[in-house]
Amino acid sequence: MTGALRGVVALDGPSGTGKTTVARKLADRLGAGYLDTGAMYRMVTLAVLRAGVDPADAAAVAAVADRADFSIGTSPERPEVRLGGEDVAADIRGPEVTKAVSPVSAVPHVRELLVGRQRQIIGDVVGHRGGIVVEGRDIGTVVVPDSPLKVFLTASADVRASRRSTQDTAAGRTSSVADALASVERRDHLDSTRAASPLRAAEDAVHVDTSELSIDQVIVALSELASRRGLLAGCDAEVAR
Ligand code: DC
Repeated sequence: MTGALRGVVALDGPSGTGKTTVARKLADRLGAGYLDTGAMYRMVTLAVLRAGVDPADAAAVAAVADRADFSIGTSPERPEVRLGGEDVAADIRGPEVTKAVSPVSAVPHVRELLVGRQRQIIGDVVGHRGGIVVEGRDIGTVVVPDSPLKVFLTASADVRASRRSTQDTAAGRTSSVADALASVERRDHLDSTRAASPLRAAEDAVHVDTSELSIDQVIVALSELASRRGLLAGCDAEVAR
């Protein structure tokens, strides 16, 4: 069921559903590029914090976003994230950024700016490589609404909190499941109730509940979906529905 992906797979859902791991592994398996749009919001947030700007000050946040010199790689093996040339992969996952990223990503100007950049990157990668897996909150609804495969990943809040806590611990940060649950629920609420392109599933998205599934099971399910939709070059399109 492997093959070279043609087009864009849009992978949306709240935090802790396994989006990042699934998106990277799926892109790798399908010979596609990979874009982590959450990392872009996180880089702008890091720039805001480093500038000493209040994340709730929308005008000041917008000004920092305009000036921020960041870049993001699209290789699923090693997606580089750089702010002012510096590798900020670890910094953007820290608790300060995680706490401030929801208000920053709710600023309409920040969204306009990043959605423009995202569309540009996606267009380039599709042009060069044929396909890309893009993960975020508004990929199927706003960034690439004509994507031929939109997936909305879900998982119970308890499972998501436990995954986040395990990830934090692995990254050397102390985090109880209770703290992770509070953080996940807070971010879900902010991300899904903001006015500018809130987190929601596209009407034609396929919902996949990952609570009881391993990463590999999710990858197999999504690869099969891509194949059935006729998105894998070299695969039989007759099973496409
Ligand atoms: O996927 P993540 O946890 O790294 O995303 C960090 C934050 O960025 C998340 O709380 C909401 C925001 N985000 C967004 O608003 N739109 C996206 N396409 C991706 C992320």
